[in-house]
Order: sequence, then C-alpha cells, then structure tokens
Amino acid sequence: ERVSLAGLHVLPGAIDVHVHFREPGMPQKEDWGTGSDAAAVGGVTTVFDMPNTVPPTDTVAHFELKKAAAEAKSIVDFGLYGLLGEHNLDHLEPLAEAGAIGFKLFLGNTTGDLPCPSDGAVLEGFEILAGLGLRCSIHAENSPILFWRQNRLKAAGRNDVLAHLAARTDVVAVEALNRACTLADWTGARIHIVHESSARSLPFIRFWKERGVDLTVETLPQYLYLSAEMMLAPGGEVLRMNPPIREAAQQEPLWAALADGTIDMIATDHAPHAVEEKYGDNVWNLACGFPGVETLVPLMLNAVANGRLSLERVAAITSAAPARAFGLYGRKGVIRVGADADFAVVDLTKRQRLTAAALHSRGKVSAYEGMEVRGGPVRTYVRGRLVAKDGEVVAERGWGAMVRPQMAAPAPRNLATTMKAILEPGQKPW
Ligand code: DOR
Ligand code: ZN
Ligand code: ZN
Repeated sequence: ERVSLAGLHVLPGAIDVHVHFREPGMPQKEDWGTGSDAAAVGGVTTVFDMPNTVPPTDTVAHFELKKAAAEAKSIVDFGLYGLLGEHNLDHLEPLAEAGAIGFKLFLGNTTGDLPCPSDGAVLEGFEILAGLGLRCSIHAENSPILFWRQNRLKAAGRNDVLAHLAARTDVVAVEALNRACTLADWTGARIHIVHESSARSLPFIRFWKERGVDLTVETLPQYLYLSAEMMLAPGGEVLRMNPPIREAAQQEPLWAALADGTIDMIATDHAPHAVEEKYGDNVWNLACGFPGVETLVPLMLNAVANGRLSLERVAAITSAAPARAFGLYGRKGVIRVGADADFAVVDLTKRQRLTAAALHSRGKVSAYEGMEVRGGPVRTYVRGRLVAKDGEVVAERGWGAMVRPQMAAPAPRNLATTMKAILEPGQKPW
C-alpha cells in the first residue's frame, strides 16, 4: 500500500515501560486485548507489563502464564517484569532466563497489596540483579511510613484530607528513593525510578546520577498536567493514584527536568479499574490509578505544540531512552527503514478532545475529560505491520511478540563489602 505522508511526521514507536494490563487475574479491569488495542491506537508499539497481577509474576510458571495470554491477544510487542519480592529471591535468575525485561520492586503500597521486602532482602535482590545486569524498576515515593499515616487517617474517618496529603507527603517520599539508591550504589544494581511525582526528588536524582549509580527515571503525564488542587473539584476523586498527584507548583520543575535530562523518559502507569471502583465519597476505598497508554503520545505532542518540548526530545523520552535503559536499543527506539520497523505516523496539527468514552481500555475513566490536545498518531506500525489507523484497530490479534533485553555486563561496585565477596562461589548466605 502506498500512503502519502505529506504534512505528517514519523516517530519511532513509543515504548511505555510502565503499564498494568491486569491479565492474568483481573479481566474486569483490562486484558491483553483491550490494553494492547489502547496502546496501538495511541502510537505505543511496545509495553512493559508490571507484575502485580493475580497471580503476581514471581515465578517462571506465573511468568509463562502471563506470556501465553499476551502472545494470544496482544497486538503490540511486550516486555514482562518479574517481581523482586522477599519470598522469591531464588526465582530471580530463572525469571531472567525466561526473558524478564527487568524486575519490579514495590517499596510502597499498591494494587494487589504486595508486601514491601525488607531492606536486607532488597540488598540481596540487588546483588543478584547486578550480576545479571537487568534493571530493577522501583515504586518509591509512598513508602510504608506514608501507608501507616494513611491508615491512621482512614481509621479516623478523615475523608477530606486526600488532596492535602497528596500535596505534602513528598517531604518524606524522598526517603524511599534515597534508600533504593543507597542500596544500588552499594551493589552496582541498575535501577529505574518509576512514576517520579515530585520536584523534591530532583536534586537527589542528580546527586545519585553524578555519584555513578546506573539510575534512570520516568515521570508520567498526570504529574505534568494534573494537580492535587483538581482533586478538590467535584468528581476529582478520580485522580486518586499512588504516588499521589502533587500540588500544581510541582509541574513546572518536572517539565524542566524532563526537558533537561534529569528525568530520562515518560511512561504512563496505565492502571485501569472498573469505573465504579473509581468514584465515591469515601476516598480511602477508591481504586488507585487510571488508564494512560492511549493518551501518552497525544499529551507529549501537545507539549510540542505548546513549546514545552522539542519533537526530538519527545522521540527521546518516549522511545530512545526506554530502549537504551532496558537493552532494546537498535531493535527498538530508533527510526529504521525496514520491513520490521516500529513507528507511528503523527499529525502535529490534529486537534482532539480527550474523553473516557473514546478509550479502547476497559477502564473507561479519563483524568483529562474534555481537555483539547493538539497532535496525535494517525497510523501505528509494529514490526512493519499496520496495527492501528485513525483511532481504529486493524491488527490481527496476537501479532505482538515478547521482547527480551540484551544488557551489557555492569561494572561491579564496592564488591568487597557485599556477601558475594565473603562467600565461597555458589555458597548461600544462610
Ligand atoms: O495508582 C497506582 N495504581 N499506583 C500503583 O502503584 C499501582 C497501580 C495499579 O496497579 O493499580
Ligand atoms: Zn507504582
Ligand atoms: Zn504502576
């Protein structure tokens, strides 16, 4: 088929390193069919799925279960995270062998209530991952300290404080970030901070990068465009997520950090829930998170239209940086000529009103309801095949394939102080 691209631009296919497609276990929220449809229509050609599914992706058997579901239904390529939990340290190497794109460590409460590992278990997990060279994505910024505070407020029946809490808790949120970076510094593990929500973390991120920690950071469109103040408006409870959206004053520094490279990439934390789980008077009972994979590229192109980001920077933060960080660069993350290339054709002048009703995700909730954006994808190609066109899915179910990371061996750091150096080869520390 010959198509005229006059007046249009070609972007490398976006890689969203942070989605929750909910399968296996929560099909009422999403599955690999609806989730990947949303990605394709949004110009996203590869997604990395988080391990807080049911069952969690903590063993090879559970990994294979998810892989089979994704292979059957996904129309975009996918990477699958393994869980780094206190209970499955012996499963990290087998998960890596099975093809995990990286690992996920929850240092705060989340959907699925996965327990936070102790610091010692994180240390040991990082030692294993440092040897494997795989990156560990970390949910920080709402540490157990905040969970404890939230539960106290919940018990006291304080339903009025959520937005205020969102605006103030980043004072302590940096604690989990710095704890994770300390252990990465010690072990040489490669780490990635997911959903960076707060300007308060930015000086610490710069510090740890300068110190030589192999650290990458993502932020989300919701922290750039939305604010805690918006949560006070009627229906604003829909914005509830973890970590919380901060006060509006935090947006500018986050935009600046995304432009100057302190923040490496943009992802979505696509976290669909059934609509009725998102609304209600008791904010503590509401599900956290909302869909995002379909609106990522439009919201970033809108930033180009607004003069906040260059188009080159958008290509870097949506595609090249994630591909580099997770060992896909060259295969993904670049504009290539070839029958197996991933790319999106975008129209920088396209005006679009964002609505929940138009979403392909099963979580028909929009945090951006009614917002008009300029710029959006018109065609999406995964490995040379057209998968979405003008907002419609055209792909064959199951075209998506799993991607495996190819990471260079990391330089060992401070090994003299780790258990590895003390033990005989193959000896376990217990
Ligand atoms: O708001 C959130 N939703 N934050 C998380 O960390 C998890 C996510 C989900 O899985 O629903
Ligand atoms: Zn998270
Ligand atoms: Zn998440």
